[in-house]
Order: sequence, then structure tokens, then C-alpha cells
Amino acid sequence: MNLDSSEKIKEMDPQGMVEDLDTFPDQCKEAVSLGEEIKLPYDLEEFDRALVTGMGGSAIVGDLLARLLDFPVDTNRGYYLPKSARPDDLLIAVSYSGNTEETLSALKDGQRRGMESLCLSTGGKMEKYCNRESIPLVKIPTGHQPRASTGYMLFPLLKLFDEAGLAGTIDFAQLNEEVEGMADSWNSSVPTESNEPKKLAEELAGKVPVIYGTKGNTSVVAYRWKTQINENAKQPAFWNVFPELNHNETVGYELGSELMSNGKVITLKNGLEIERNELRMKIMEDLFTDEGIDYAIARAPEGDKFTKIIGQVYFGDYFSVYLALLNQVDPSPVELIESFKARLKKEG
Ligand code: PA5
Repeated sequence: MNLDSSEKIKEMDPQGMVEDLDTFPDQCKEAVSLGEEIKLPYDLEEFDRALVTGMGGSAIVGDLLARLLDFPVDTNRGYYLPKSARPDDLLIAVSYSGNTEETLSALKDGQRRGMESLCLSTGGKMEKYCNRESIPLVKIPTGHQPRASTGYMLFPLLKLFDEAGLAGTIDFAQLNEEVEGMADSWNSSVPTESNEPKKLAEELAGKVPVIYGTKGNTSVVAYRWKTQINENAKQPAFWNVFPELNHNETVGYELGSELMSNGKVITLKNGLEIERNELRMKIMEDLFTDEGIDYAIARAPEGDKFTKIIGQVYFGDYFSVYLALLNQVDPSPVELIESFKARLKKEG
């Protein structure tokens, strides 16, 4: 598969995942307006914490908010809210389809506990429930995969929290300009020789990626890269974070070189690592060299926290789609997820 052939790309990507990535800057801009338009019946400053509930491509929004906001955020992935959930928390339920059973159940759990809620969805059962219970809903556009709608789900929330003074200072215009610059460098019309996500996809083709981030910093990016490789490229990938990986996973490299002959470790760096984790990464690089483990470092784009985190997520989105094309698979459909959900419905 030639990543520089627009005809081949169109053939392998009939649902236009690449186009969704190319237009991500516009998606983010449109999503900021969705945040401006919604009127909330409460003040965000009144809450002690935001508890984001969702699954898969919708839940990642909670992890991103937790990393980006100057406000406590936790993410819940499951049927019920954690024991710590209480009316002083704002419950934010995110479901692209609006039909994910775990998210709907957790939303109802929040209502039972007397919590205020905010929902984000394209519609589905979630919209009906919001109408019945008078819960504000940010209605996002349909027609994309949930994981290709991260901008639509993240930016309205960033805008709302920014307006409430709980996001530090976000310069949305500047951020958008930077994301546009990334799209200019990474889009499919840029040839492989000068296109970093295409280059990384070529490097990773045929390998099992193991992505390492750092706790509280790039852990969200590492997890997103792993799940994007799974869903877009339809292949296994693993992730972990410093410092925890030095307390167990590291030992796995003792016998690693043979078993890892098809693996490649990617360490994410963005310059916001704490010093001890930087040192840990350096020591691990020496270990990988000694043990003959294939590894590489992926650096985030330059800029502030928002540019670095959103930019590195965007980079992962691009390279995982390019990897899908090299794997000769359509990046959009997630048939195994769909058939799993269908069977669960039929048998339950
Ligand atoms: O990427 C996907 O399709 C999944 O991870 C979904 O996001 C997940 O199954 C949850 O569905 P939804 O986002 O519609 O709530």
C-alpha cells in the first residue's frame, strides 16, 4: 500500500476517516460554538468535581479533561458510578450514539443519587432521557465514528469550563491555528518523506506497538494511541505508564528480546515530564539497547499544555489510520464491537 496515492487511500477508506482527520481543526472550531450555545441551569464553579461517565471513544473525553482542566475530573467507565460520587459532583455523561448501555445506566445512577448532569450525544436514548428529565444536552453532529468526534465532544466542555474560569487560560484561536498547522504537515497529501505520522506508521507496520506515557501527563495520550491502533488498524497494541511500569513490566524485558522480536516500544515525550520520570525513561532506553529491544521516542508538538496533549493525540489518530492503510484494512468500521453489542442485546 502506497500511502502517497490518493486513489488507493480513497479505495481503502470509503467512509472518509482520513478526511475526518484533515478537517479536525474545523471540527474543533465548530465544537467551541456548541459550548457557547448551551445554557446550563447551574454554575460549574458550584461543583467540587466533574465525574465523566462514558465508554470507549466517548470516555476518552473524561481523561483529556482531567489532564487539561484546572479542576478535579475523574472518568468512570462502567454501569454504576463510583462510591465517591455525590451531589457535589457534576455528572457529565458522554455517548456518541446515545445508546451505550453502561453510560445510560451510570447516568440513571447519578439521577438516583440526586446529582446534576450534563450530557453530550448525537441523540439516541440519551437524548430522550435528557428531554424527560430536563438534563441539558450538547447535541453533536452525526455521521462519524465516535473516536473521530473527539473534537466535538471535548471542545464544548473546554469552552464551558474556560468560561467558568476553571480551565486556566485557553487561547482557542491560537490553539486552532496550531492544530491547522499540524493538519497541514500530517495530511494525506503530504508525501511520506516529510510526513511524520506516515513515517511512524511505516516504522510500525507488522509490529506490535507498546506505548509508554507518564502518569498525570501523557498517560491519556498513550492510552488513546493504543485504542486508536486497535480500532483503526485492527491490531494488538499495549500501553503503560511511568513510574508504575518500572515496578513490574520492566522485568518482562529480561527474556524480552526474543519474545519481543515483533514488538516496538514507543516512549512519548512532551517536555512536561517530572525529572524523575525523565531519568526513568533514560534508564529504560539503556535497558532496551542492552536487551536488543526495538524502541523509539515520539515527541509532542511544541506549544502549551493544550497544544502538546491535543497535538500528540491528533498525531496518534493520523498515524493509526495510516497504519490501517498499510495493514490493508478500512479504518472506520469496528465490526467486532458492533457484533458484540448486538449479541449482548439479543442474549440479554
Ligand atoms: O470507538 C467506538 O466505536 C467505541 O469505543 C464507542 O465509542 C463505545 O463503544 C461507546 O459508544 P458511544 O461512544 O456511542 O457511547
